[in-house]
Amino acid sequence: MSDPATTHRSVGRSVDRREGRAKVTGAIAYVDDLTLPGMLYGKTIRSTIACGTIRHIEFEKDVPWDEFTIVDAGDVPGKNIVHLIEEDQPVLCEAVVRHREEPILLIAHPDRQLVEKAARSVKITYEEHPAILEIGPGKVHREILIEDGDLEAEFAASDVVIERTYRTGAQEHAYIEPQGFIAQWDGDKVHAEGSHQCPFYVHEALKTAFNLTDEQVNVAHCTTGGAFGGKEDFPSIVAIHAALLAKKSGRPVKLIYDRNEDMASSTKRHPSLSTLRIGATKDGVLRALDFDFRLDQGAYVTLTPVVLSRGVLHAFGCYRWPAARIRGRSFFTNSPPYGAFRGFGAPQSLFAIEAHMSLLAEQLSIDPAELRRRNFLRPGDTMPTGQVMKEDPNLEALLDRALELSDYRAKRSAWKKGSGRGIGLSTFMHGAGFTGSGEVYLASRVALEIREDGKVVILQANTEMGQGVETVFQQICSEAVGIPLEQVVFRRPETAFVPNSGPTVASRTTMIVGRLVEKAGKQLRGKLGELSVAEHYRKSGPLRIEVQYEPPPGIQWDEKTYKGSGYPTYAWACDVVEVSIDPVTAEIKTERVTSTVDIGTVINPTLAQGQVEGGVAQGVGWATSEKVALRDGAMTNAEMMNYIIPTTVDVPEITVEFLPNPYEYGAYGSKGVGELPMDGPAPAVTAAVAHALDREITQVPVQPEDLLE
Ligand code: MOS
Repeated sequence: MSDPATTHRSVGRSVDRREGRAKVTGAIAYVDDLTLPGMLYGKTIRSTIACGTIRHIEFEKDVPWDEFTIVDAGDVPGKNIVHLIEEDQPVLCEAVVRHREEPILLIAHPDRQLVEKAARSVKITYEEHPAILEIGPGKVHREILIEDGDLEAEFAASDVVIERTYRTGAQEHAYIEPQGFIAQWDGDKVHAEGSHQCPFYVHEALKTAFNLTDEQVNVAHCTTGGAFGGKEDFPSIVAIHAALLAKKSGRPVKLIYDRNEDMASSTKRHPSLSTLRIGATKDGVLRALDFDFRLDQGAYVTLTPVVLSRGVLHAFGCYRWPAARIRGRSFFTNSPPYGAFRGFGAPQSLFAIEAHMSLLAEQLSIDPAELRRRNFLRPGDTMPTGQVMKEDPNLEALLDRALELSDYRAKRSAWKKGSGRGIGLSTFMHGAGFTGSGEVYLASRVALEIREDGKVVILQANTEMGQGVETVFQQICSEAVGIPLEQVVFRRPETAFVPNSGPTVASRTTMIVGRLVEKAGKQLRGKLGELSVAEHYRKSGPLRIEVQYEPPPGIQWDEKTYKGSGYPTYAWACDVVEVSIDPVTAEIKTERVTSTVDIGTVINPTLAQGQVEGGVAQGVGWATSEKVALRDGAMTNAEMMNYIIPTTVDVPEITVEFLPNPYEYGAYGSKGVGELPMDGPAPAVTAAVAHALDREITQVPVQPEDLLE
């Protein structure tokens, strides 16, 4: 393929992030920078038990309560439900408490300090019940089964059968800006703006809780300081709460979480438990996979069924299996609900399969890179879902390049097992776009409008949250219409004024929605003919092009049997990780990570590289330092001081190389990059630690105290 930078005007170039200057100079306003006349500050009063019934609420006398707006479940005018997949989570508790930090009351006052003081003067007593806090004893909510081939026959024909159980822990998003919304009413219409990923999710949730029509709700997007999935479903709660206080007080209300409240109460990555049995021949050909995948979903359903689905659809990794059975289950517990987090179930199942592949290599005395090579999916192969590999995933090329860039072979042989230095690897994929028929149901729409000043405005709902969508869409539009970047305007998403292009999740934005921008741009170019945008406007006035998603041909999915194309396409990658272990403290230092990546065409190399580097840092953090400590269902380290994310000192040296492999149905050949880089580091880290210490590692995070035991 030719270098896109030479054939395209905008696509393939590392143009500057369009909102970058305003962010680094501090000029840009986040939701907490906004102040409205007469605005009140809100605060959520939460449960201090994991399971039980509310007995009594007392407002202590040291607070001027008559100056406060106080909201309880009885003030919810519509359904007392946070609308999502299932209608199980209340906006505010009525009597029953199902997890720590569950919202019970809301209070608001013009004085921010007084609100904090008042919150401490609400005393709630409970009748407490025993809580379920681990995977197993609780009710199973959703079960998924994928079966393919004759499992028992393939196990019987295997020379080795190895079984292990792997665990992964919860993970905090640690976005740079906590959750926050401002809501205000104009008669029977509500306007809410805040920090979130998916304006139309919040829109739908407000409609349900207040019993409103589409037109009565407007949700606008504010500058958002990171999300990572943490602002996919959770912001609906914050927006509803702010709107309840605003409705009752008749004033605008700002509700911003402080960091500790945010960490303790908002969603996290689902903890998982995976039991795998793999059968293989003695020369390393895989024959059978039996994978039991379990997620802790916490006290409410939130997005768990979709997370579970993505988990099972990545459980078989990027290998050929003559027979496979994957069983996925999600369990209710009394932990705060788990939710979307970059990777969305895939990092959990890929950790288990990749860790198990490295263990199998060890047991067969085959190099882990070679074991993988012997079993890679190739064109014409089928996944256990029956999905046929139409495109070449080029896994060997990714592997070979990663081995070469990292000098893997020399290091693997020079560093003796148990020497304190180790090198490990993982090969993995990420299904881009919504699972199964998700994109068809979403039926995303994007519009372009021309303006009198010669500019083209992009109207759609996908949100900038640091990943670069404004810049990338500007590049795609500029390319498709054939106009300079400066003549493209990205309108801030606001539900009353933009078509619904779906949520900013699932590594779908550039590939799926970007493709719609490309399509609309090309149609617009056709309409303009030989004229410039300004000339066409002068001649014919306003012009609007709107396009809607159409699935690529041949994509079918059966939700009941889990057969068909789980995803229209996949991004692929290989990570090589080098670690050293301190012989005295057992501290793990991740020294170097090499990542080779196929995301189709790279629209903006600097931004794409940033995505990979960030994902690697987040993956290494999940694997080594990020431990969510829970006691009695409460996070006991809900502070940036003792929930340890990698800092600039801890982040390893990262080498990234893209191997272009354009995808016909993505914007200019692109595939999703957002989540893929989160999937690979953890099992490569544990493989490297296993090599360095000559012992098995079956969990993340793996920390010095685990190694010293
Ligand atoms: Mo995401 S974890 O698909 O916001």
